[in-house]
Amino acid sequence: MLNKPYTFELSDIDATMTRYDKHIQRPLSAMRGQYHDVAAYEALLATGDIELYQVYENTRPAAAGELPHGLSILHPGRVGDEYFMTKGHFHRVLETGEVYHCLQGHGMIVMETPEGDWAVEELTPGRVLYIPPRWAHRSVNIGDGQDLVTFYIYPGNAGHDYGTIEQKGFRKLVVAGPDGPQIVDNPRWGK
Ligand code: F6R
Ligand code: ZN
Repeated sequence: MLNKPYTFELSDIDATMTRYDKHIQRPLSAMRGQYHDVAAYEALLATGDIELYQVYENTRPAAAGELPHGLSILHPGRVGDEYFMTKGHFHRVLETGEVYHCLQGHGMIVMETPEGDWAVEELTPGRVLYIPPRWAHRSVNIGDGQDLVTFYIYPGNAGHDYGTIEQKGFRKLVVAGPDGPQIVDNPRWGK
């Protein structure tokens, strides 16, 4: 791994990063159990295991002083009335935060703490979100036919805890209502 300073280009036009060493593609099948409308999820999956999002990352050693960073590209669409979203996670080391910088699209970031606080922040191009330590985070694409593209940076020792969200979900969901996106209680939270 390169241990000298480096630069790269980040394009907010075509959502590319000219340097990365890890590329993840998450398909719909990776989100089993996360969308509240199970019938809609199964019906969509039956038509094909489409890609929901991709992540390009410059990985760094798992050390507190390192700063892994990358680009998250979440496609538009819905499962029933729920917008396409990332799995979401707590950092395994809870006392680590993260910064998101929106480059493209329109999103909501759904967050919560183990103590029961929750928050939803809207992202549009140019907006930066600071996620403090302890806050689990999930991106939701509320844009109309456009990818939600965010650049992120987090501490190298953070690690990822996906299991807690896989089991409990987030307390809040973002769904399409008659007047646009709505934040509602997750009927399946903790079940
Ligand atoms: C890293 C981070 C983002 C997400 C990405 C995909 O700590 O928060 O880079 O990893 O948006 O979401 P997940 O990891 O929840 O599948
Ligand atoms: Zn994170």
